[in-house]
Parts: sequence; C-alpha cells; structure tokens
Amino acid sequence: MSADVVLCPGGPMLLRGTHVVADEDGVEHTTSRPVSAVCRCGRSAARPWCDGTHKVLPEELRP
Ligand code: FES
Repeated sequence: MSADVVLCPGGPMLLRGTHVVADEDGVEHTTSRPVSAVCRCGRSAARPWCDGTHKVLPEELRP
C-alpha cells in the first residue's frame, strides 16, 4: 500500500488521488491529476500548486 500524502524533503507535498485543497485565502481547489504537488515553500507563482521554484531557493528557505 502506498501513501496518498507524501511530504518531499525540501519540496512539495504530493497528493495521490482526488483531494480538495484550500489556499491561504480559503479558496478551494480540487486536484485533477493522478498526483498533484502542493507548494510548501510559499514561493510558487501557481499556489497552492508547486511550480518548481523551491529548487532554486537556498536550502534554509526550503520546507
Ligand atoms: S514547494 Fe515547490 S514551489 Fe514551493
């Protein structure tokens, strides 16, 4: 059995399957992919989704 929520060290939270994610403004977003990546660094331009920005952050700013 594989987890349906996975925290990636220094990166996003992966959600497997359908979930409803509320962003910081309370707006709800429903996942539409088999695996969705939720930003944990707070720097993505596509929040609540990860856009890969965490990869260019200094280590101390990564989640
Ligand atoms: S975790 Fe990937 S952009 Fe924030």
